[in-house]
Amino acid sequence: MRVVRTVAELRGGLAGPRSAGSVVGLVPTMGAFHDGHLSLIRRARRECEVVVVSLFVNPTQFNEAADLAAYPRDERRDAALAAEAGVDYLFTPPVAEVYPTGFATTVSVAGLSETLEGAHRGRGHFDAVATVVTKLLNMVAPDIAYFGQKDVQQALVIKQLVRDLDLPARVEVCPTVREPDGLAMSSRNALLSESDRVQAAALPRALRAAVRAVRSGERDPAAIRSQAMSELTSSGVRPEYFELVSPDTLSPVARIDGEVLAVVAARVGAVRLIDNETIDPLLARPAAGDGGEHSEQEKLECIARC
Ligand code: PAF
Repeated sequence: MRVVRTVAELRGGLAGPRSAGSVVGLVPTMGAFHDGHLSLIRRARRECEVVVVSLFVNPTQFNEAADLAAYPRDERRDAALAAEAGVDYLFTPPVAEVYPTGFATTVSVAGLSETLEGAHRGRGHFDAVATVVTKLLNMVAPDIAYFGQKDVQQALVIKQLVRDLDLPARVEVCPTVREPDGLAMSSRNALLSESDRVQAAALPRALRAAVRAVRSGERDPAAIRSQAMSELTSSGVRPEYFELVSPDTLSPVARIDGEVLAVVAARVGAVRLIDNETIDPLLARPAAGDGGEHSEQEKLECIARC
């Protein structure tokens, strides 16, 4: 694996394989790798001849200076994990390589950026994500770029900008990887105290409560939400939001009459966590770490998908 810090070096390295027709895959990350990142990298490794992982803690997408300062960083550990997973290039540019003096452009995706995380973190968050991802896609020019379903709103914003700007990359959204108690893997989990960690498991429990409610025939979003909310509040978690929304537009749904996305965000201790689950009322399956109820076949299918 080569660790490269400049766009010129990266493009130089990719020119040969690209002209020979190799499929290039990109996994954009902010480092602090966990199994979620590794599942994206493994999928890219299976599907692409050349795998590039970008490691760039994008300062512009943090709306709190303390959150940026606390963000876990360990390039040496990440590089070792990436090498072990068969990554070809670890692209880890300094801030000045991404935002040189005079940088003045913002990519902004209307609509999808304005709700949920956009409403709570501020519109600037997704503008910053859209801008840096556009830059990464231009720097690497991958055939396929891989993102995680945990950040579902981010994935939708990226799909939209790729479509709108005719960027020649295919976006693949990969399943959320969970801890045994259902907590979605996230670099921020490392910042949870022991007691916060116990409380954090209320998020996937709330999502499972929503799945159970739909599975038992409930179609009223308010009733489903109230069952999910009791899981959160009984654990002392007051969410910023728990909503049932359209998986395409993220608008709230008035009734469950097709696939719906349950989305949740909550601060647990000092850490802000988000999670989501797609619920198909026709195919109401266990979700969000409901491991015990999967058949062996389902588990194998899930592992294969990851
Ligand atoms: O999901 C992330 O890690 C970041 O938002 C991304 C996509 C790498 C952009 O900085």
